[in-house]
Amino acid sequence: MINNAWRIPKVILPILGTVAILAPLAWLWQASRVPSVYSVMDMGYPDHGVGTPAATSGGGHGGHMQGSMPDDPVSRRLVTDMVADPARPADVRVDLVTRQQTLTIAGHSVPGFTVNGTSPGPEIRARQGELIEVHLRNESVADGVTLHWHGLDVPNAMDGVAGVTQDAVPVGGEFTYRFVADRAGTYWYHSHQVSNPQVAGGLLGSLVVTPKSGIAQPVEVSAIAHTYNGLRTINGKAEDLRVPAEPGQRVRVRITNTDNGPMKIWSGGSYRLLAIDGTEVNRPTEVSGRSATLTAGARADLEVKAPDGGQAMRVQLSKATAVVIGAPGGDAPVPPQPATELDLLNYGSPAPLGFNPVHPTRQFEYRIGRRPGFVRGRPGVWWSINGRLFPHVPMYVVREGDVVVMHIANHSGEGHPMHLHGHHLVVLARNGVAATGSPWWVDSLNVSAGETYDIAFVANNPGIWMDHCHNLKHAAQGMIAHLMYEGLDTPYRIAGTADNRPE
Ligand code: C2O
Ligand code: CU
Repeated sequence: MINNAWRIPKVILPILGTVAILAPLAWLWQASRVPSVYSVMDMGYPDHGVGTPAATSGGGHGGHMQGSMPDDPVSRRLVTDMVADPARPADVRVDLVTRQQTLTIAGHSVPGFTVNGTSPGPEIRARQGELIEVHLRNESVADGVTLHWHGLDVPNAMDGVAGVTQDAVPVGGEFTYRFVADRAGTYWYHSHQVSNPQVAGGLLGSLVVTPKSGIAQPVEVSAIAHTYNGLRTINGKAEDLRVPAEPGQRVRVRITNTDNGPMKIWSGGSYRLLAIDGTEVNRPTEVSGRSATLTAGARADLEVKAPDGGQAMRVQLSKATAVVIGAPGGDAPVPPQPATELDLLNYGSPAPLGFNPVHPTRQFEYRIGRRPGFVRGRPGVWWSINGRLFPHVPMYVVREGDVVVMHIANHSGEGHPMHLHGHHLVVLARNGVAATGSPWWVDSLNVSAGETYDIAFVANNPGIWMDHCHNLKHAAQGMIAHLMYEGLDTPYRIAGTADNRPE
């Protein structure tokens, strides 16, 4: 006979059941919360990759590397040490003032941000090898601002990531950026504090570095594509950009996609794709009847020829807007969007990479997925990196001199524009198919749903670098990892008194 006193009252059972379900959830919820102040160094877990270490400290056999972070404070360097030569005078000086302001786009009032009173802000231009010094003052952006030089491999302290390489610049605050523009190409700058709303609101501008030898095209133009509150624009205007050119004249169009999604570009005639993400394509051939995809954050330099006989030709930046080139007043019908795409995997001709990716010293995986869980205490179906949710994501650790190969796989069901700061990556293969064209160097890579990429780079720019999705909405949802060099540390903190919110 059972003693009633030992029986669990019926009413308790559902409560126990509920606890059994809720306790792990509560734990997961708790674990997903982000402290009110923390170092990016404490985010996630170190991933030392697979391979044979690059330099000095022995261990010359394969397999998983041991964590070998020198704890010796003397050998620890700070991101703030990574600067341009302080003794070198600037060649190009620019003052930039940021404001929170209402923009007028096609007659609509749009809340946004300006740099020196406009959005986009002024274009910064330098010649290759010149030292650029930008003096930033934040006049009225309440959340604070920074400036990140997208695509330029600047010294880490100049990278403009709030809470990692500097504190956000508060209203009334100032910051000076100094870096050498050592690669010619088309780049852009944007805030990296509360970046999703600030970039969407127009806190950005173009940065062009011209080669020492000059450019071959007699006419050149920058076209910043940006969508303000649903209104597609080029250089801040919701209309076509008209570029006068003589018949037959070659025009270089520097296109930057500053939106969160990919943009298709195509033209009414033929074009050559001269450069991608600031790197010249080796022997770009003439292309017609094909569109090219510019992922979020990416740039493309197109060369087109102005048509003869008072005509003009269109370079479409999506269906909505175009750069119209040719006789003033001339126009042309919107060319139909080509059904086929230019594939950069086999465009142009091979050329030496300058390093050998066949025997990498580190190999990493960057697997993008999606799964239910909590991020910042909020339940949802979130982006995962190697199966983990923000902030428990990998911290990819390299040593200076490493030849790094990274395998990116996108199982998340959506496309992601992946952007690594401070480095240029070369595409080795897509979906297992090796690249056969010009070296395809990128800083922003369109990784469509279901795709895999093998990319390589040389770890030659010490720092702590974001490696994130440039759909800045996704970044704000936690699609952020970092690449760090052994022995580096940062004095800055995420959140905290400076309220640093890099994404
Ligand atoms: Cu265009 Cu992390 O930035
Ligand atoms: Cu994404």
